[in-house]
Amino acid sequence: MRQPLVAGNWKMNGSSQSIRELLDGIVSGLESKAEVLVCPPAIYIQQAREMLSGTAVKWGLQNVSDKASGAFTGETSPLMAKDLDCKYVIIGHSERRSIFGETDKDVAAKFCALVDQGIVPILCVGETLEEREAGTTMKVVEKQIETVLQEAGSNRLGNFVIAYEPVWAIGTGLTATPEQAQEVHAAIRELLSRTDESVAQKTRILYGGSMKAANAAELMANPDVDGGLIGGASLVAEDFKAICHAAG
Ligand code: 13P
Repeated sequence: MRQPLVAGNWKMNGSSQSIRELLDGIVSGLESKAEVLVCPPAIYIQQAREMLSGTAVKWGLQNVSDKASGAFTGETSPLMAKDLDCKYVIIGHSERRSIFGETDKDVAAKFCALVDQGIVPILCVGETLEEREAGTTMKVVEKQIETVLQEAGSNRLGNFVIAYEPVWAIGTGLTATPEQAQEVHAAIRELLSRTDESVAQKTRILYGGSMKAANAAELMANPDVDGGLIGGASLVAEDFKAICHAAG
């Protein structure tokens, strides 16, 4: 039985004041059987750690370097994430791929670096609208995942999460239908089972892309949708808690 995971990706939003209020709001009255995670901007991780220690809410990064330390101006290392008790780190978000030019190989290197520090990667994958319309959704998603599986090797697949985020649904208000989400999630699980059936059964596959309180329950009711990666709606405490509640 996979415990659902609901993760908030705050992207580049917030201030120390607004984050204090948002974290207070999320922690108070949170009711969920899901594991709940927030990913603030890296500069606010220590603030999140101080406020969330001892609560049911975990914290993590939105991105990480694949290097341990050294002359990499502006980067954050997996060792630093571990030092500040990040349990999860998002990697390969479509904004990292499209705006910052990250390749499947770059994402795979980050995956390996995180696993080697005992941090759980949340690997984001997903197709653009053109790719969906061309009928190549699974080809794109398979390549994104297979590059990571190959680089990681079987002994790094003990604990990771996949987030299926169709690019056309991110921040657009357009959500995949429950049927569209389930179809891709089931295909991802089938892809994992070609490597290892037990990995396929235990790996959580989250949906992301305009998930909100109004559509969360029907998306997460699908057998292969194990939670959500939430952008905009995770910046409003009541909306995020409603999604956590919808997860069970
Ligand atoms: P929205 O929920 O704002 O569409 O963003 C989804 C996302 O990119 C989460 O990583």
